[in-house]
Amino acid sequence: MTRTTRLQTALVTACFAVAISSGAMVACGSSSGSDGSAATSTSADKTTTTARLTEDYKAQAADFVNLHAMTVVRGFFVSNKLGHLDEALAIARANKGGVYPVGTIIQLVPQEAMVKRKPGWNPASKDWEFFFLDVSAKGTTIAVRGADEVENRFGGNCASCHKAAEPKFDFVCENDHGCEPLPIDHKVIESIQRADPRPL
Ligand code: HEC
Repeated sequence: MTRTTRLQTALVTACFAVAISSGAMVACGSSSGSDGSAATSTSADKTTTTARLTEDYKAQAADFVNLHAMTVVRGFFVSNKLGHLDEALAIARANKGGVYPVGTIIQLVPQEAMVKRKPGWNPASKDWEFFFLDVSAKGTTIAVRGADEVENRFGGNCASCHKAAEPKFDFVCENDHGCEPLPIDHKVIESIQRADPRPL
């Protein structure tokens, strides 16, 4: 995970950087030098790091689209509204673990979603915001959103199941990451996916 390592290194060493999104100068309070230079990272790294630290993604109902408009990986669906789709897909496809980038939306069924917020948003949910959605031919409305308190329609707490995934998998369960398996067959899951009522 070169990217993660680089991010961690830059987190420790970076002092001043330009936040891409706002175009503003941002000070992050390090004592690495009066000129703000950081010995071990290039300015591109610092820019990326600061952008990552400051960017957040608060999903709106319209951001949740028909699953088949997302990218499928081994039976679940991925998108990223902040331009980090390639990074999210690389983590998902490699299936070796990694922290998903901010703005990643992952869904197994149309009615449930997890969305990656900024680092530190909610450590107990590994910065995932959990959603319970109502979907129809008209689109999506958000029924419930939140962190480790959100439950699905069966009263199951999202985070309490998902936190059983091995830490490196960043709360993504699949069928072999350490979570209790779902009590429904994959064939049933596939038919729920196919029945997504939202327009494509
Ligand atoms: C009973 C435990 C349980 C509960 C409760 C639960 N999940 Fe899951 N979830 C799983 C398991 C296990 C999988 C993997 C299923 C598979 O691929 O076989 C999964 C899959 C997913 C996936 C696809 C990515 C992954 O982790 O494999 C998403 C997204 C997801 N769940 C979101 C939610 C949300 C949002 C809630 C709450 C509204 C929720 N889940 C509640 C156990 C649970």
